[in-house]
Amino acid sequence: MTPTFFIRTYGCQMNERDSEAVACLLETRGFHQVEGEDEADVLLFNTCSVRDQAERKVLGKLGLLKRLKRVKPHLVIGVLGCMAQRLGEEIPAKLPHVDLVVGTDQIQTLPDLLLAQLEERRPGVYLERSDASLPMLGLHAPGKISAFIAVMRGCNQGCSYCVVPEVRGREKSRPVTDIVEEATRLVAGGTQEIFLLGQNITAYGVAELRRAGTWNPELSPFADLLRAVCAVPGLRRVRFTSPHPNYMNAAFVRAVAELPRVCDHFHVPVQSGSDRILQAMKRNYTAAAYLERIRALREARPGAAFSTDVIVGFPGETDEDFAATRELMQTADFDMAYIFKYSPRPGTLAERQVDDVPQAVKKQRNEILLKDLDARSLAHNTARVGEDVEVLAEGPSLRNRERWSGRSSDNKNVIFTPEPGLEIGQLRQVRITRATSHSLFGDLLPE
Ligand code: SAH
Ligand code: SF4
Ligand code: F3S
Repeated sequence: MTPTFFIRTYGCQMNERDSEAVACLLETRGFHQVEGEDEADVLLFNTCSVRDQAERKVLGKLGLLKRLKRVKPHLVIGVLGCMAQRLGEEIPAKLPHVDLVVGTDQIQTLPDLLLAQLEERRPGVYLERSDASLPMLGLHAPGKISAFIAVMRGCNQGCSYCVVPEVRGREKSRPVTDIVEEATRLVAGGTQEIFLLGQNITAYGVAELRRAGTWNPELSPFADLLRAVCAVPGLRRVRFTSPHPNYMNAAFVRAVAELPRVCDHFHVPVQSGSDRILQAMKRNYTAAAYLERIRALREARPGAAFSTDVIVGFPGETDEDFAATRELMQTADFDMAYIFKYSPRPGTLAERQVDDVPQAVKKQRNEILLKDLDARSLAHNTARVGEDVEVLAEGPSLRNRERWSGRSSDNKNVIFTPEPGLEIGQLRQVRITRATSHSLFGDLLPE
């Protein structure tokens, strides 16, 4: 009988990509993926540790499964990913109905672990660091219009608040040839847009050059990778996340300027606009240096949209520090951002500082930034009315099935009425007639 599995993913796009690859690997080994938890012999949870709330959500979910396991004793429950790596043995100690805990560098062993578990029940915790997961990252289910490629794993930055370097390990980049081969395969299967992923993607290839003793800060192996991926015949769009400002050097900006397939949207996490807080966060740049990078990118790509990540309520963040963040966001003219309330993470440097900004103040600062963003995105979007924008058609809109949605190059959600014969994955012009802070609305133009 074919064993069935269900996989749920928490956290960032790197985790989504890992889950896709895990699902493909399991399919090739005779497992069958199902959409409902109830139908599955194996339940897998690919977890996130970045904030306390992210962990609590999964732990709550796992707690609820105790009853299910009692009525379905043959069920196998596996915890993967960042929280598995961080908590390890603590998970089955607290939740004995969890069978397998598999860390971020051990996902390639899952088929064997699951088969052993299904046959003879051999629970265990597998956290060893290794490079063995890199080759399986090339696995994809066919037919994705927009596909992720994980170009590297890990992070060497050591931002003082962040658990990612601990749970994901040291930076490791995949060879350009492997990535280009993967992109070529995806495009042959119908992929139009490729989203390159790495926690510190502008440092792609840097650790390897450092080890070889050939690194110099004027180089940008990531720019070389962008050039190679953009040269894949038939590929229409390339996006990437997340760049660290410190590696956005002239070579990188030049590549972006010269590669029209790179989309007009850049997500560049800033975290804070206060130099004092940036220093305490160990981000290694000032607000002015950050803004200079954005200015250079804007010059290279006039009309591009910018988004960011911000943490509010970092230890010691005063009203003045917060005002500096608010001002930087205005100057950079972001119209999209993820705002996070600081959450102390065990084992990080910042955890040694007192989490002294009250929850209510974090909440208030969060709301202020969200309100600013909403006003800016409404202004940006309204200015687009009357323009023709190129949209990658993604299919019926979630809210209204009569209409379709798609993304513009600058990452706006565009809603339009489809014409008969329109296919998912087509790149088409839409004339914008109306805008809200979240979306652009318009009419499809004839081909
Ligand atoms: N590698 C990416 C982001 C990784 S985590 C980058 O550096 O660009 C995604 C975001 O979560 C971070 O950008 C940061 O804004 C937020 N974050 C990380 N640790 C956090 C913490 N301890 N509390 C609150 N937000 C956090
Ligand atoms: Fe975390 Fe900083 Fe690395 Fe991003 S760059 S993953 S915030 S340590
Ligand atoms: Fe979370 Fe791990 Fe991503 S901690 S944000 S899932 S790298």
